[in-house]
Amino acid sequence: MCENCGNSDLSLLNDIFAKMAENGDNLITVLQKAQEIYGYLPTDVLYEIAEKTGASPAKVIGVATFYTQFRLKKVGKYLILLCKGTACHVNGADGIEKAICEELKIKDGDTTEDGLFSLKTVACLGCCSLSPVMMINEETYGSLTPARTVEILREIRRREEA
Ligand code: FES
Repeated sequence: MCENCGNSDLSLLNDIFAKMAENGDNLITVLQKAQEIYGYLPTDVLYEIAEKTGASPAKVIGVATFYTQFRLKKVGKYLILLCKGTACHVNGADGIEKAICEELKIKDGDTTEDGLFSLKTVACLGCCSLSPVMMINEETYGSLTPARTVEILREIRRREEA
């Protein structure tokens, strides 16, 4: 991201475009690689991909919004995936969400002002026996209570401030 104009540094995409034909990359692969670079898919990057791949902006944006693997908003250093599937819902996921939202002062889909945390609710994380469950980046936290959830978030913040 350019600090002066707020635009993405599109030169970071050059390598992807240079090797696109050679690797036989399709649009989804190009989007995946771009997301690896920027952490999400900014609008100016989507337009650049459209121009360089010859796809229409509507198609590129359509693909990026269709697949849940793609993020269109910047995410924090810690991405909280809170499960709201049936088992987690029955075991108190709403209370966990409330605790997270109150502690971080964000709602689902948002990122904290300091860029540390993002919250995204999901359907099932595949470990229902541990419900209610959340993942923070690669780490899974199960059998959550609101108090324990807040403690986990504060512990991460303490670590970051240390
Ligand atoms: S319903 Fe939450 S992990 Fe399956």
